[in-house]
Amino acid sequence: MAKKNLEIVVNGTWGIRSSFRSLIAVLITVLIITAVYLTQESGIRLVWEYRSNGLLSKCDLFSGKWVFDNETYPLYKEQQCTFMSDQLACEKFGRKDLSYQNWRWQPHQCNLPKFNATALLERLRNKRLVFVGDSLNRGQWVSMVCLLDSWISPKLKSMHNNGSLNAFKAIEFNASIEFYWAPLLVESNSDDSVNHRIPDRIVRVKAIEKHARHWTDADILVFDSFVWWRRPEMKVLWGSFESPDDAIYKEIEMLRVYEMALRTWSDWVEVHVNRTKTQLFFVSMSPTHESGEDWGGGENCYKETDAILDERYWGNDTNPKVMRVLENVLDELKGRGVNVQMLNITQLSEYRKEGHPSIYRKQWETLTETQIANPSSYADCVHWCLPGVPDVWNEFLYAYIVHHQL
Ligand SMILES: *[C@@H]1O[C@H](CO)[C@@H](O)[C@H](O)[C@H]1NC(C)=O
Ligand SMILES: *[C@@H]1O[C@H](CO)[C@@H](O)[C@H](O)[C@H]1NC(C)=O
Ligand SMILES: *[C@@H]1O[C@H](CO)[C@@H](O)[C@H](O)[C@H]1NC(C)=O
Ligand SMILES: *[C@@H]1O[C@H](CO)[C@@H](O)[C@H](O)[C@H]1NC(C)=O
Ligand SMILES: *[C@@H]1O[C@H](CO)[C@@H](O)[C@H](O)[C@H]1NC(C)=O
Ligand SMILES: *[C@@H]1O[C@H](CO)[C@@H](O)[C@H](O)[C@H]1NC(C)=O
Ligand SMILES: *[C@@H]1O[C@H](CO)[C@@H](O)[C@H](O)[C@H]1NC(C)=O
Repeated sequence: MAKKNLEIVVNGTWGIRSSFRSLIAVLITVLIITAVYLTQESGIRLVWEYRSNGLLSKCDLFSGKWVFDNETYPLYKEQQCTFMSDQLACEKFGRKDLSYQNWRWQPHQCNLPKFNATALLERLRNKRLVFVGDSLNRGQWVSMVCLLDSWISPKLKSMHNNGSLNAFKAIEFNASIEFYWAPLLVESNSDDSVNHRIPDRIVRVKAIEKHARHWTDADILVFDSFVWWRRPEMKVLWGSFESPDDAIYKEIEMLRVYEMALRTWSDWVEVHVNRTKTQLFFVSMSPTHESGEDWGGGENCYKETDAILDERYWGNDTNPKVMRVLENVLDELKGRGVNVQMLNITQLSEYRKEGHPSIYRKQWETLTETQIANPSSYADCVHWCLPGVPDVWNEFLYAYIVHHQL
């Protein structure tokens, strides 16, 4: 089509009027080519579309900067959240520098919509919002529960824990906000929500139904899976955990296994999830700060009190290849008619080396004298203090759930 237009221009008579016409033709051609180019480039779209003064606008929420703002942040108080986790309650466990609670994310092109708990609960009326994944996703779920908690009177909320599924309910709205433990998304020997610290990790990479049947009918699904994959190789099981005699095990390069697992997940989503009903999200990798060398600091996140200002900063532990695998899988799903919105939180969370619990959280085991003498040896530089970074991830989620115009 574009080529044809060009030919018309070339064969035309070069009078003043027709040259004006050819100019128009050339412009139209350029427009067509650009449009074709843009559609072909497609990829996963990360723009947020919203209405402002009646006009449809677009914004990349994930490109921006952290701004210190102790007037608006934190959005809730740690001690006032009924369902706060001892793993994330840094203030309760002795942290004195609290500025990690005061950062606002400022996108370059627009403002994040103000979090309105009532508006979100209205949107979730008679619905199920389920977070599925690892402890980072659980942290985001706790953050979401805390963001809503203070707006709901004690008699009108409940919390139920049943194995891998935790469900917070806002009774008046019949809204359920849940977390389902599946750290590798597919089945693994780490699927027990309490006892999963197993050194020899085994993934059953083709199997997901044991997990997925608990959440396929949800109205909104938020997935993540990254930290449990940070090893060069994974042990893959063909067969089942129940009949070890028939099982075949093989050590395979992690990226290949990650890709296989995501394909198992995406096939499930494509076949079983009702795409007119269910809104899908995937949270990109949550960065860790386990090596101070990366930013020219101390041993790790221990004693860090400031955010990183270098916009190009990217930690050594955050494997960009994992990000590419995720992007490709989401892109392919889009080609098959299933839209999964990626929450591109990796780069912006990289800047927040001071946002982790470090030594200020409940310890699972009694600390040894050697550990106590060397605090950085047991600092948690993976999870995030609350209130803190995951609240902002939920503000993105909020923007897409409540204000996104399709
Ligand atoms: C995610 O956000 C970062 C920072 O804005 C950007 O550099 C990167 O390209 C984004 N990724 C995708 C897939 O859009
Ligand atoms: C906010 O921070 C500024 C500068 O650190 C301080 O002067 C002010 O008292 C703080 N305000 C609140 C509400 O904490
Ligand atoms: C929050 O949302 C509710 C329901 O949409 C609305 O009535 C209320 O005015 C909003 N509050 C603010 C402060 O915008
Ligand atoms: C309450 O919400 C659930 C989804 O969590 C839905 O299946 C059910 O129909 C709702 N109940 C009513 C009375 O609408
Ligand atoms: C807990 O989950 C199991 C398996 O899904 C189910 O059979 C059982 O009824 C649930 N128990 C409660 C108390 O909800
Ligand atoms: C998918 O969800 C829509 C909206 O809730 C509903 O009308 C439709 O019947 C569902 N389709 C299937 C196959 O369940
Ligand atoms: C991390 O950095 C070290 C040197 O500081 C380098 O040897 C290593 O290859 C890096 N690892 C990755 C995954 O990039």
